[in-house]
Amino acid sequence: MKVLVTGGCGFIGSHMVRQLLADGWQVTNLDNLTYASNPANLASAMDDPGYRFVHGDICDAPLVKELVAGQDLVLNFAAETHVDRSLLGPAAFVRANVEGVVCLLEAIRDDGHAELIQMSTDEVFGSVPDPEESAEDRPFRPSSPYSASKAAAELQVAAYRTTYGLPVTVLRGCNVYGPNQHLEKFIPLFAARSMRREPLPLYGDGLQQREWIHVSDLVHAISMVIRAGSETQRGAIHIGSGERRTNIEIAQRICDLNERPHELITHVKDRAGHDRRYALDSSRLRSLGWAPEVPFEHGLARTVVWYVANSSRDDPAFASYLREQYEVRLAGAANAAK
Ligand SMILES: NC(=O)c1ccc[n+]([C@@H]2O[C@H](COP(=O)([O-])OP(=O)(O)OC[C@H]3O[C@@H](n4cnc5c(N)ncnc54)[C@H](O)[C@@H]3O)[C@@H](O)[C@H]2O)c1
Repeated sequence: MKVLVTGGCGFIGSHMVRQLLADGWQVTNLDNLTYASNPANLASAMDDPGYRFVHGDICDAPLVKELVAGQDLVLNFAAETHVDRSLLGPAAFVRANVEGVVCLLEAIRDDGHAELIQMSTDEVFGSVPDPEESAEDRPFRPSSPYSASKAAAELQVAAYRTTYGLPVTVLRGCNVYGPNQHLEKFIPLFAARSMRREPLPLYGDGLQQREWIHVSDLVHAISMVIRAGSETQRGAIHIGSGERRTNIEIAQRICDLNERPHELITHVKDRAGHDRRYALDSSRLRSLGWAPEVPFEHGLARTVVWYVANSSRDDPAFASYLREQYEVRLAGAANAAK
């Protein structure tokens, strides 16, 4: 069986490519290698005869058409994914996350054979009041340019399903953590900064709540959906762990794991439009027999150890982004404390 994975050099995609190869799939990985990618994530796959890497963009219609032809499955992880960056420049998010998905859908429509699995997010629902959980049919209320672009992609996917009868599935994941994630994201950033005894910029009161799943559990869930076959695949399926934590709890736990004082945690000006809470109802997936295996406490401890050993990316562009995103906020927090 043949699969086109897009965004395979990123965080989730790199874990998924390795799993698919282990399961015997012929994998083509299309990735345009943005700042968030790391080809070294897939160094171990390079010599696998079932693996092929193509450096290219999901918005490149002729290339996508050529690559989709003959595939059984297209698994789309290619996206701009950092919410903070979507506030700085939304256009790149619309291009990759919406236009790119339409380009994939057109190629699949033209090919007439491959199925699509589109990776989406719990963020499409916006903030969910406690104790509610979002079921698959909850209306979208995205708050950020990132989540709006993911919701827009989902609407296109649903339109192609309804209009052209395309075999398409949407998987909505909660927050994912584990090795290979870019250092800009919350857990890698706090793990790396606390290790270096740098202040940890925590947005607002830190009481925003997220649901966290280890990347290995997410990959197993996706593999199970693929195995379950087309009848169960079509429509939307939620992949949540039920492990819900506030950001401040996680920041404190990371300090504890790195044996650093909680005083490193610095409350800074909140992000505009910051959702308070996400929570998925994942009973549909659980009824297929899936359950997460990595308890959050264990997974977080392993992940922090991994970032302590693997966080030395010397990247001037990232340093400049960190200055833009946090320097003024941290200075504001220091002044407020005086
Ligand atoms: N990480 C999470 O917590 C999480 C949670 C829910 C859903 N998701 C979704 O899962 C998917 C993967 O997320 P991730 O965290 O692995 O992202 P990531 O940022 O780590 O990786 C994205 C990859 O896509 C590639 N890419 C970006 N634009 C591209 C384009 N136009 N053409 C080809 N390749 C392109 C990048 O080079 C990178 O390798 C995304 O759709 C994201 O919205 C992520």
